[in-house]
Amino acid sequence: MLLAKLSFAALLGASLVAAQLGATYKCDPAVCKAPACRCASTAAPVANPPQFLMLTFDDSIQDSVWTQAQSLIANRKNPNGCPAKATWYTQVFYSDPYLTQTWYAQGNEIADHTVDHITPTGTYQQIEGMRKWASELAGIPLGEIKGFRYPFLNYSAESIAMITKMGFEYESSMSASGADNVWPYTLDYGTVNDCLGTYPLCGVNLNATGLWEVPMYGVTGTDGAQHLMDPYNDVGVTPEATTAMYRTAFDAHYAGTHVPFGVYLHPVWLGKTAPNPTNPVVTADGTPKLNAVAAFLDYAMTQPNTWMVTASQMVEYMKNPVPADQLAAQPYMSCTPNPPLPTNICNAVAGATAAGAAAPEVCNLITGAFKTCYGCPVSAPTLLDPSPAKVNTARFPLPKTCDSLWWDPVTGTCTCTAPGCTYTATARPVNMDQNSIYAVGGGNGTAGGNGTSSATPGSGSSSGNGTPVSTTAPAKAAASGIIAGLEPLYAAAAAVVVGFFA
Ligand SMILES: *[C@@H]1O[C@H](CO)[C@@H](O)[C@H](O)[C@H]1NC(C)=O
Ligand SMILES: *[C@@H]1O[C@H](CO)[C@@H](O)[C@H](O)[C@H]1NC(C)=O
Ligand SMILES: *[C@@H]1O[C@H](CO)[C@@H](O)[C@H](O)[C@H]1NC(C)=O
Ligand SMILES: *[C@@H]1O[C@H](CO)[C@@H](O)[C@H](O)[C@H]1NC(C)=O
Repeated sequence: MLLAKLSFAALLGASLVAAQLGATYKCDPAVCKAPACRCASTAAPVANPPQFLMLTFDDSIQDSVWTQAQSLIANRKNPNGCPAKATWYTQVFYSDPYLTQTWYAQGNEIADHTVDHITPTGTYQQIEGMRKWASELAGIPLGEIKGFRYPFLNYSAESIAMITKMGFEYESSMSASGADNVWPYTLDYGTVNDCLGTYPLCGVNLNATGLWEVPMYGVTGTDGAQHLMDPYNDVGVTPEATTAMYRTAFDAHYAGTHVPFGVYLHPVWLGKTAPNPTNPVVTADGTPKLNAVAAFLDYAMTQPNTWMVTASQMVEYMKNPVPADQLAAQPYMSCTPNPPLPTNICNAVAGATAAGAAAPEVCNLITGAFKTCYGCPVSAPTLLDPSPAKVNTARFPLPKTCDSLWWDPVTGTCTCTAPGCTYTATARPVNMDQNSIYAVGGGNGTAGGNGTSSATPGSGSSSGNGTPVSTTAPAKAAASGIIAGLEPLYAAAAAVVVGFFA
């Protein structure tokens, strides 16, 4: 549904229209069966399902936003006693590979949000470049990068068909509210979400067989307006109103069929020196916004059978839905990892101040400093070269046969071969040539090699003429009337605004 500032009457009308637009959607549940396929539906997939809550962050994972993001999940537990989890739609520019790896090592999800977040955003180079950077500099196994979110939520039919070919498991950019508040579903028969939105694709064949749609669930404010991302930045929405609108909307999901709920944030707005939404060159104190979201999460997590999950856990659930009382027994909900992680290798568990073989390297680049376990690149990542050649070639890249949780990049050994930590990558290898995904046979990416052979120090980088990091003043994305459906264009470059890369 269109997430625009609409009067209540207009909203009501929009809901009715959205319901009618569903007529273009033809999906037969007798043919489209889990786990490979699921028709869109507002009905619960089983009786007494859990209430899922997805907290997601977008853009750079960097020091200036890390504490705020961590504070929203720290000390929160799911009903099975395991840590609550969240998803970060990560862009390469301004991100710290070591913090990215830390987020992953905590059991949270790293998903793809392109290299630089700058238009054109839905291109192969943008999307594949993030996979290359995340695997080569942050040690994220390619098979764990399962989801994609379009910068500015700007999806297109061609690009959705492409990410399906690329092997993504889900996308999460289409908004839902009211009549199209459906559970996650596969796009085999097209989409039912966002039919009146900025980039509506309802009724279009997306060639997206098996690609899951994890809708972004909007909330309605007391003003009758729809809000999606960073509602505290919307005109007239105080921190108190933010907590209240989340709570009212969550209660409605909870009292209904338990349709999943979402909280979609750019943590850049939540720090003590956050950009001012109305004047990005001035800073503001985002702490009241952070507290407003925390107050809502405090409330939601006291409601029985409420689980904070990553988007890929949500997808796992939809493949085989179970009643709430059986969720704790599902393998994808177990406390990970087991056995406990070693703290004596550079796997981002011991922390940035770790010494010896657990210590990350600090890379001082023209765009600023960042840390990595996988060797400093000679230059900053660019769109054309997201993972430049390494300065120090003594670090071993992540092989296909070991998760970075157990991989020691200093000695090049997998430190655990117990059943709980064996790993065999099946994901498509990185290949910056777009034609590779259309090659006969599905395309394997780079030819040859079974992972073991690629585990030589310093290998696996390409060169290119990088374009410099843009520090131009960002413009604000605004289709007129939309107050919440688009990501703020300047959030991507806010690190510059707050002086992090001085
Ligand atoms: C959205 O994507 C299209 C291409 O699919 C592009 O032409 C347009 O400029 C993009 N809009 C924004 C705000 O990025
Ligand atoms: C879907 O596939 C058909 C048949 O190959 C093609 O004609 C159409 O352009 C494709 N659409 C998209 C969005 O890729
Ligand atoms: C592509 O993958 C298939 C299945 O894993 C394998 O049999 C084939 O040898 C691979 N081809 C290349 C060129 O790597
Ligand atoms: C990968 O290659 C190495 C070295 O050639 C070989 O010893 C190993 O058995 C291979 N592994 C697989 C799974 O093919």
